Amino acid sequence: MLLPVILSGGAGTRLWPASRQAFPKPFMTLGGATLLQQAVERGLACGTDDFLMVTNQEYLYLTKSVLKDFSDGLRSTYLLEPKGRNTAPAIALAALFVRKQYGDDAVMLILPADHLIPDTESFVANVLEAKRHAQLGQLVTFGVVPTSPETGFGYIEVEKATRDSQKALRFVEKPDATTAQEYLATGRYYWNSGMFCFTAGAILKAFQAYSPEVLEAAQNAMSSSKTENDVTKFDVHDFSLQPDISIDYAVMEHADNVTLVPAKFGWSDVGSWPAVANGYIPDNSGNTFLADVVSIDTYDTHVQVEAHNDKIVATVGLNNLVIVDTPDALLVAHKNVAQKVKNVVDVLKSRK
Ligand code: GDD
Ligand code: MG
Repeated sequence: MLLPVILSGGAGTRLWPASRQAFPKPFMTLGGATLLQQAVERGLACGTDDFLMVTNQEYLYLTKSVLKDFSDGLRSTYLLEPKGRNTAPAIALAALFVRKQYGDDAVMLILPADHLIPDTESFVANVLEAKRHAQLGQLVTFGVVPTSPETGFGYIEVEKATRDSQKALRFVEKPDATTAQEYLATGRYYWNSGMFCFTAGAILKAFQAYSPEVLEAAQNAMSSSKTENDVTKFDVHDFSLQPDISIDYAVMEHADNVTLVPAKFGWSDVGSWPAVANGYIPDNSGNTFLADVVSIDTYDTHVQVEAHNDKIVATVGLNNLVIVDTPDALLVAHKNVAQKVKNVVDVLKSRK
């Protein structure tokens, strides 16, 4: 049994203002389909019709409307979170649910709903390999060969980077820029793609060992949850008692039974505006314009206008910028510091 568990409860704040709390990144359309649809397609390609969707209760109808295109045969169950508590509680709840339904040996494939992976065939081959390791009790991550000292990713150290699966020696979540640069120089690190594969039993055992407080809080939230048909809802109070922590910090940095499967597929987590721009073919000046742009002396700049299809944008003497215009917000940012766009969201939240 291989069960894709699709995580789509994060806000994707680095893609503000296109990704918003009411309309986050998994529902953005890139390359013809929403990122959520693409994640489901990848799961289906692995030969399974059953899905577990873990998402915010606000996104239930949006999710169902995106998934109705797959109504032939797709069976999805929903764990609906009243608020975001990050990926460790989301995965712990999913594992408790899966164990109850299918037993300890059911293999979970954790798929964030905000990735671009153009090569489905290689992805499926990697997943089947990961499943074999998961069935031996390993916690499997898919490693991506790093191309820059990104600080928004987890880094996984191995003895020697090869094309084969191997033991992960160390997992470091989001190092600072200097450390990331050092890791890159050694050639012994992979980026963590954020996708994982393990049995329900193995990940629950890891929670018990490394983050018992997350497991206990998830058990408590599960015990007061209510299931009706395909939807499980949680009591807000019990749900909120869960710590806000990611799976990377809660488990992966501590576990010693982590296997790294090197990704043989192209991968982007579309985590920031430069990553979105990279998904489009640039013009001769390196620009990616998703709008009617009159550009003079403008290079390596991404322009995106939403909802005002007839709006003309004129750019003069620009280099390496991102400009995103939406009906109620305009972003102008330098590509080099595009990770900091999430700080804008923090400031806006503090104003409320
Ligand atoms: N259901 C649910 N609930 N999903 C969540 C929650 C939550 O509270 N928080 C985040 N998610 C979902 C997001 O929607 C996304 O699909 C996925 O979980 C990962 O969360 P991010 O917030 O996007 O994580 P990240 O990008 O900072 O870091 C992770 O991914 C990187 C690769 O993209 C880590 O695993 C890094 O190690 C990794 O390199
Ligand atoms: Mg992400």
